[in-house]
Amino acid sequence: MEVLVGVSLLLLCFVSHVKAVTVESCPLATGTLLQTEVKKTVTLTCMTDEGMDPSKQKELQWFRNGARVNVPEENRLYRSSLCVQPVTKEDNGVIFMCQLKGDASVNSSIKFDVKYPPDLNDTMEMFVEETTDAVLSCDVRANPPVTVAWKKDGKVLDLTSGSYKTTNNGITAQLSITKAKRDVHQGTYICEVNSAVYGTMARMFNVTVEDKVLRFPLGPTISGVVVILCTILFAIISRRNKIKCCSKSN
Ligand SMILES: *[C@@H]1O[C@H](CO)[C@@H](O)[C@H](O)[C@H]1NC(C)=O
Ligand SMILES: *[C@@H]1O[C@H](CO)[C@@H](O)[C@H](O)[C@H]1NC(C)=O
Ligand SMILES: *[C@@H]1O[C@H](CO)[C@@H](O)[C@H](O)[C@H]1NC(C)=O
Repeated sequence: MEVLVGVSLLLLCFVSHVKAVTVESCPLATGTLLQTEVKKTVTLTCMTDEGMDPSKQKELQWFRNGARVNVPEENRLYRSSLCVQPVTKEDNGVIFMCQLKGDASVNSSIKFDVKYPPDLNDTMEMFVEETTDAVLSCDVRANPPVTVAWKKDGKVLDLTSGSYKTTNNGITAQLSITKAKRDVHQGTYICEVNSAVYGTMARMFNVTVEDKVLRFPLGPTISGVVVILCTILFAIISRRNKIKCCSKSN
């Protein structure tokens, strides 16, 4: 019995001396996932479970995706707070970790899930030469992900006609036009993006199909044409002379 009690006490002592750090957040996290939005403010507080014992100067360290975050010295002992203000879309998926200095195995992390709308709300003027290709691009990065619809002159674009091709890798959505023709491709296009959180956003493209610019130099062409005309002229003259000769001999 005495041995058992002794072992239990020993265990209890051992358990109460297991070092740990915990991270609390405002707003509160769900487990280790903190849901927030761009432009918001998040406060993280890291604490040791050892209480304020001045004899044990427990220093805490912060890491953002593995990179050290510098905090003032007075904000490192027993309790350390970090303020993320404002939250940006670059903070999405980022892991903030607090650890005991000198013992990396005593750590606690929190992961950011940052909601942000796509950065779209503008108009692009585009000039495309007849028979050349064009690409209309839209930045569709957003959290949660969005759906994309292409429209032309107010109607959903029929992708089976007009030699259109679309791609979307979650970062950029593109509409490709092959061999632009004015009567088919000129008009106002819209890349319409739908977000379950932020609603509808769009980028407009005013596409003008221009006449093909002559690319070859005009000077040599004219002299070339002149040379050909002269040759033909000389040929006709010499022929006429021959004919004349013939008629003379006749
Ligand atoms: C955090 O602690 C755990 C468990 O003690 C350990 O396995 C892990 O390697 C530590 N993480 C870092 C980054 O040191
Ligand atoms: C889009 O841009 C227009 C004009 O620049 C502005 O008035 C409008 O508030 C913007 N909308 C969004 C959702 O940013
Ligand atoms: C785009 O084209 C439409 C229709 O031709 C026109 O009303 C609008 O002003 C144009 N937008 C810009 C920004 O030039």
